[in-house]
Amino acid sequence: MTDQQIKGCIFNLDGVIVDTGKYHYQAWRRLANQMGFDFSKEQNERLKGLGRMASLEKILEWGGIYMPEAEKMHWADVKNNWYISLISNMKPGEVLPGVLYFLRQVRELGIKIALSSASQNARSVLKSTNIESFFDLIIDGTLIKKEKPDPQCFLQASVAMGFAPAQCLVFEDAPLGIDAAIYGGFTAIGVGRPELFPNAHLTIEGFENLRFNNLLGQLTERVIS
Ligand code: G6P
Repeated sequence: MTDQQIKGCIFNLDGVIVDTGKYHYQAWRRLANQMGFDFSKEQNERLKGLGRMASLEKILEWGGIYMPEAEKMHWADVKNNWYISLISNMKPGEVLPGVLYFLRQVRELGIKIALSSASQNARSVLKSTNIESFFDLIIDGTLIKKEKPDPQCFLQASVAMGFAPAQCLVFEDAPLGIDAAIYGGFTAIGVGRPELFPNAHLTIEGFENLRFNNLLGQLTERVIS
């Protein structure tokens, strides 16, 4: 695999570019506490990649709470307003280590950069952290109708860039997202602990000191061996 074959890189946002997981956790936990129960950081990890309503359903299940759909919509809005006020205070320094350097390397090679996030708040996060201009294309939760592991979020990005899935790398921190990338025919790079991504083509711990060409070299070795 060479940079000639790779035409596009698609990045998930939460947990790949920025650590917004902690803000989702704070807002969901406030909601749970208001309903009289608590949930752990470990449980929160299991919400990665799930959409807003699916996350709420899981949390209500953990709390043993049943409520009608209309009430769920209300609480999802309440949580979202808390989340919005948390991310409005985010700063450029919260972009994860090495991400900007990595994005610059990709851009210098003439490879297109897309963001694909299930979050309807993705653009606000990009604005608060001042990284919107790094992306040639932004697909966010307002445009995506099918949740991961459906590959729609990544396919929309590759189609809009004019490339086939095989010409794109997908960077994901959620096992559900890795499955989505693989179902879509993309090369899937897990970002995080290797044991989380048995299905990924390759796993990186993060972007710190990561050289794009080294990454491609490692991928080639994997494909050949
Ligand atoms: C991403 C995050 C999830 C979040 C979802 C919807 O997939 O990983 O934790 O639930 O986006 O985000 P939103 O900001 O629209 O509630």
